[in-house]
Amino acid sequence: MMERVYVRASRDYDVLIGAGLLDTCGGEIAAVTASRRCALVTDSTVAPLYARRVEASLRKAGMDVCTYVFPAGEQNKNLTTYGAILEFLAEQKLTRSDFVAALGGGVTGDMAGFAAATYQRGIDYIQLPTTFLAASDSSVGGKTAVDLAAGKNLAGAFWPPRLVVCDCGAFSTLPPDTFADGVAETLKHGLIADRDFFDFLMKEPIRDHLPAVVKRNVEIKAAVVAEDEREQGKRKLLNFGHTLGHAIEKCSGYAVPHGHAVAIGMVLASRAAERLGYSPGGTLAAVIAANVRHNLPIKCSYTATELYDAATGDKKRRGGTIDVVVLEEIGRARTVELDMEGLRAFAEAAL
Ligand SMILES: NC(=O)c1ccc[n+]([C@@H]2O[C@H](COP(=O)([O-])OP(=O)(O)OC[C@H]3O[C@@H](n4cnc5c(N)ncnc54)[C@H](O)[C@@H]3O)[C@@H](O)[C@H]2O)c1
Ligand SMILES: [Zn+2]
Repeated sequence: MMERVYVRASRDYDVLIGAGLLDTCGGEIAAVTASRRCALVTDSTVAPLYARRVEASLRKAGMDVCTYVFPAGEQNKNLTTYGAILEFLAEQKLTRSDFVAALGGGVTGDMAGFAAATYQRGIDYIQLPTTFLAASDSSVGGKTAVDLAAGKNLAGAFWPPRLVVCDCGAFSTLPPDTFADGVAETLKHGLIADRDFFDFLMKEPIRDHLPAVVKRNVEIKAAVVAEDEREQGKRKLLNFGHTLGHAIEKCSGYAVPHGHAVAIGMVLASRAAERLGYSPGGTLAAVIAANVRHNLPIKCSYTATELYDAATGDKKRRGGTIDVVVLEEIGRARTVELDMEGLRAFAEAAL
């Protein structure tokens, strides 16, 4: 069985969710593009596991495929790898009517998407997410990026994919911690937008309901993106746990993976919000219980000053404000605009 979620954006696209789709993705892709030439971009862990199957399916659908493999890991989500992907596309003489297929986790999707967004001023790309996180979050919404030395995702573009094909069967090879990264963003979706979904996640084993859970994640994200694709307002709510989460990633030199950092960031934001009176009592306890149930961390090993410095970068000299997301209740969130002093107080109350 295959689920289909329609995403309304500046360019509409479908998200297909099911088991075994890596073997049939070629036909689905051929249905949305007239091009018969594809550059498959994937990382060194995913390539030996799944690239063959995707190449075979694309070729079966009449496509000519060339494959670029980069070394796996967030530390390679940088300008060097991004530049190498662009050079590969040029060497392979991809034209504006050809397309890129991103096979892998969020690192691959964000970086191959950014390469597609900028190669010859933008060519089509397809997302083939293989992590639970990429399927449930990063492959949808059209945000593409690489990290700079100054911080996460600082160079990027809004560039919607043509199609997202999610084969939940690929999650079977994920290390438990990497699976848990996706659970963190899943809990986030429940916490900010859907109390019933959050309650479900607290009762049912997620692995027993994978296509349904991915589908609900995609629906929640798609609804937000349809309203505010370029993050002028409502989309900011998807950043719950991310202001301090990104700071943790940066402080750790990206040794703490994104999902784990967000999990801790949600605990920190909930503690600060409860102490500062934005969230009702019990919010922090609910977030901690959710993390514990799903083998996600709840403790931060950095000080408020370290987090504040990492979160503000240059901004503290220039002044300005930062939006943080707080829960008004489980299932409903809002943003709070903080100046630099406010953010310092928030970071202090978070620990
Ligand atoms: N664009 C967005 O809206 C958005 C949203 C959330 C996160 N992100 C970004 O996504 C990234 C995190 O994504 P991620 O957690 O998928 O990281 P990732 O892409 O680094 O994948 C995690 C690890 O799992 C491996 N892997 C991938 N699929 C596998 C499989 N099926 N079996 C075994 N191993 C597999 C990868 O090689 C990697 O080592 C971060 O850079 C984050 O900033 C972007
Ligand atoms: Zn995230």
